[in-house]
Amino acid sequence: MSGEALRSVDLRKIYQSRGTPPVEALTGVSMEVHRGERVALLGRNGAGKTTFLKIASTLLRPTSGSVEVFGFDIARSPEKARPYIAVVPQEGKPFFHLTPREQIYTYLRARGFARETAKARTEESLERMGLNEFADRLSVTLSGGQRQRTMVATVIATEAPLLFLDEPTIGMDPFARREVWSSLRSLTQKGSTILLTTHYLDEAEVLSNRLYIVERGAVLSAGTAEELKASVGGTLKVLIPSGAVQVEQFRSFGTCVTDGLSLTVIVNPHTLGDVMEIVERSEMTATVGPVTLEEAFLRAVGRSINED
Ligand SMILES: Nc1ncnc2c1ncn2[C@@H]1O[C@H](COP(=O)(O)OP(=O)(O)OP(=O)(O)O)[C@@H](O)[C@H]1O
Ligand SMILES: [Mg+2]
Repeated sequence: MSGEALRSVDLRKIYQSRGTPPVEALTGVSMEVHRGERVALLGRNGAGKTTFLKIASTLLRPTSGSVEVFGFDIARSPEKARPYIAVVPQEGKPFFHLTPREQIYTYLRARGFARETAKARTEESLERMGLNEFADRLSVTLSGGQRQRTMVATVIATEAPLLFLDEPTIGMDPFARREVWSSLRSLTQKGSTILLTTHYLDEAEVLSNRLYIVERGAVLSAGTAEELKASVGGTLKVLIPSGAVQVEQFRSFGTCVTDGLSLTVIVNPHTLGDVMEIVERSEMTATVGPVTLEEAFLRAVGRSINED
């Protein structure tokens, strides 16, 4: 095992299907994931996140460009890269006619773990993901969130050097999400590397060491959550629900974004007083909060991650 955990260079993917126009899903993506890092791909529906993960995990061939996993070129020698990776696919389902306990154990055995290790890891992973109560029920009888927990538990149990998780916490309740976050953190402390995709800004912020904002098959912005937030140009946002018509009054204080009737002004603490004075004088109301990844996303992409 040598090299970065993952390095992609100018990765392109054009989906061609007969009778329909080609879809350019990746337009030249270059990125790196260092060993021991947790990196998130953050992007709207259709941005290209799953396509990237599928190619990087050897499930799909790129149109051009390259990906190396621990120094192995995944197009030339996928069989060399595969033992180092494990994947939670988007909308993957556990085998319906296995129980979570059987599924995790069977998967570990198939990956070559000895009986005792597989058994111990299975129990540990069931416990971690809060699955003990359901561990011996057929997966077909489990709820959506319980199935997703089973999928994540299966992959976490491998402790593979590089884990790909495509929207790992989709459909999970807040407690289960926190379990996933803490399990992923302890995996990287043990030496694993993680690349995940998410639409959840809070997940990207609390979980990843670095993130890539992806839109229309391209990386628009990259860095730590702090760096991305700093790029917004202020640390506070003032939301004025009826402020859009008065936007000109606020332009000199910082970036102004209107959305329907409302106006958001990005400011620094020392100008907050002046902004609030105008709000009051104009008999409007405002709320003040810290700048979040939402504003960083908006700045990079020009649209909110939650907008249709
Ligand atoms: N098999 C396919 N054939 C044709 N187009 C495809 C195929 N798979 C994906 N696409 C298209 O490629 C683009 C990227 O899709 P992808 O699934 O990578 O996005 P995503 O970022 O994972 O989105 P989501 O957040 O909805 O999961 C989309 O425009 C999608 O419609
Ligand atoms: Mg996807």
